Formats: sequence, C-alpha cells, structure tokens
Amino acid sequence: GKGEYDHFMLKEIDEQPTSLAQALEGRIDPENGRIALADFGPGTFTDVSSVQLVACGTSYHAALYGSLALNQAGIRATALLANEYSAAAPPIDDETLVIAVTQSGETADTLNALRQANADGAETVTVTNVVGSTAAREADETLFIRAGPEIGVAATKTFSSQAVMLTLLAQRIAADRRGEPPADLESLLPALARMPAEIERVLETSDAAAVANRYRGSQSYFFIGRGLGYPVALEGALKFKEITYEHAEGFASGELKHGPLALVTPETPVFAVFTGQEDAKTLNNAEEAQTRGAPLVAVCPDGHPALETADAHLEIPDTEPALAGLLANVQLQLVSYYAADLLGRPIDKPRNLAKSVTVE
Ligand code: F6R
Repeated sequence: GKGEYDHFMLKEIDEQPTSLAQALEGRIDPENGRIALADFGPGTFTDVSSVQLVACGTSYHAALYGSLALNQAGIRATALLANEYSAAAPPIDDETLVIAVTQSGETADTLNALRQANADGAETVTVTNVVGSTAAREADETLFIRAGPEIGVAATKTFSSQAVMLTLLAQRIAADRRGEPPADLESLLPALARMPAEIERVLETSDAAAVANRYRGSQSYFFIGRGLGYPVALEGALKFKEITYEHAEGFASGELKHGPLALVTPETPVFAVFTGQEDAKTLNNAEEAQTRGAPLVAVCPDGHPALETADAHLEIPDTEPALAGLLANVQLQLVSYYAADLLGRPIDKPRNLAKSVTVE
C-alpha cells in the first residue's frame, strides 16, 4: 500500500535510494575497480560492434541515455522508438546487439521491435523490471533492474534504475569489445556506489515544492539539457505533461535557438539540467531564454556558475557527468509531482493513460 504517502508516485520517488542500491547490489566492485555483471557470461559482448536500443516513452529516454553512454564509451549505438522500428529499422548484421528497454516487459510496440530483431538475427538483450515478462522470455539475455513493483502510472524509480543499469552495461560492452576495462571506470564505480546516498540527500533537501508553487499557472514549461542532460530534459517534460496536464517540452539546449526560442516568454520557465559536461554552452543557451524574460531554474550543484544568473535553484550533489543527470532527474520528478498536486490532479492514474500499453 501507499502507507504514509498520499500517492504511490511520491512513495516510488522516495524509494529510489533503496531501489538503486538493490539494482547495484553485487554488480559493481569499486574496491577492485571492476564491473561484476554476472548476469552475463564472460565475453558475451566481445563481438558486438554496434548497438540499437528500442523502447517507448520513459523507457525510450532511458534508452537514449544508454545510447549516449555507449557512444561516450566508444561503441556505436542508436536509441530508436520501438513504434518507429518496423517502418525503418537500421540494418542488422551479425555484430549487432539490440537492447529492448521496457519496465513492464509487455509493451506491444517494444515486443514487436524485439521480435523483428530476433528474426533478423541480432543478438538481443532485454532490460526490464519484471521477471517472467514476455520481453524477458523472448530475448537471448536479460538484465533485471530490481526496482520492485511500480504502481504509479508515471514511471519514476524504474527510469533511474534503467538508466543506471544501461550505464553499467555500456561499460561492460565496451570492456568486452576492447578486452580491457574503459579508462573512466575508476571514477565511475565509486560514483555509482555513492548514488543512493546522493539521491537521499536530494530527497531530504529538495526545494521542488517551492519551485512548483512559484511557477504554477505558467503558460508552458521547458526543459533543456545537453549530452546526458538531454534525455533527462525529455523525461522531465514527459513527466510534467503526463501528470499535470500542462504543456511542457524538452529540448537539447543547443536546439533552443533553432526554433523553440520563438515560444519563450516571461510565462515559460526554463529548467536547465547541468551535468558538468559543456555546462558553459548550456548556460549560454539558457541565458538566451532568460533575455526573453523566461525564468531560469538551474538544476546544478551548489557553487555552479549558473547560479550567478538563475532565478531558482534545484541543488544536486556534485558527481560524475555520467550520473549527474540522474540526480537532476529526481529533482524534476519532484517538481512534476508537486505541480500536479497543487492542481489536484489524480497523480497515480492520469487520464487516458495505462501502466502497460499492450496495443500497437
Ligand atoms: C511514462 C510511462 C510510459 C512508459 C512506456 C513504456 O511515465 O510510464 O511512457 O514508459 O509506456 O513502458 P514500458 O517501460 O513498460 O515498456
């Protein structure tokens, strides 16, 4: 049950330190500087030269996060909307790995893409929360995210666990492919181990309720980010529109000036995600919106240069760029939750949506 909580969504947001610790349990070995992903046999990914990730909705944002992590680790990877896959899938060869990312393991669009990949001879992996689900059964290999049951229709803790497990999997694929662990593993592993405590800190100190209240009644809500901050911006906007019914859009920071800036007014707060990678560029983009009167909400560590101009601050602990966006995402989950709560929305069961979409 919900226990002391008014909504499953808030309960599930609050569970993230635990659900992430569970996901990571026995899978990282920071003392020895190793990934210990025993879910896969030794050398499983030695022959993988390119990766396609297929997913829908929030899981697609996790898939995009994973594809960028793979690219940064030197592996060719693309995230694709599963419902677009049958119309124009990139070619598959015998070194292609297709990863289906699906919380429920039952999303029809994602199952279709997985089946097509299997039929075309790709090696397939499912990343899912549900043991025994169709996607888990039909892929060659499975990685369970161990988030525990998610009741709220809006995916929260499962997004975090999917993105973290894909980050880990990206490192493992790169290590198998190259025959040696990637250089940045040394800083990534301790940062992963710290993550549950860092999320706890975000949950305990967040100003998201005040920020939601301050910008209530705005015309539209924009979310921007760059690199690994981009999927987080997309996810921030999806969550916001899903549960508040207000208009929200996520953009790559650098895209703002290529069109969306025409929408920016004093009535369109801009939430900017800073990951520690190319932050000066993102700040420039955010300031262009601010010049048009938009309030700037900076999601960044304390002492960050963005705070010299930002109108509001959602603080995140200072961590590796590989993970900072996921801490920012927790702040954005909370903003959406409190904004929806102020509007009296049925947060756990938004209109027109279902937890598991089993039609095409
Ligand atoms: C958004 C949300 C949906 C799902 C999507 C895929 O909060 O929950 O966008 O992410 O329907 O569902 P799964 O992950 O079960 O394949």
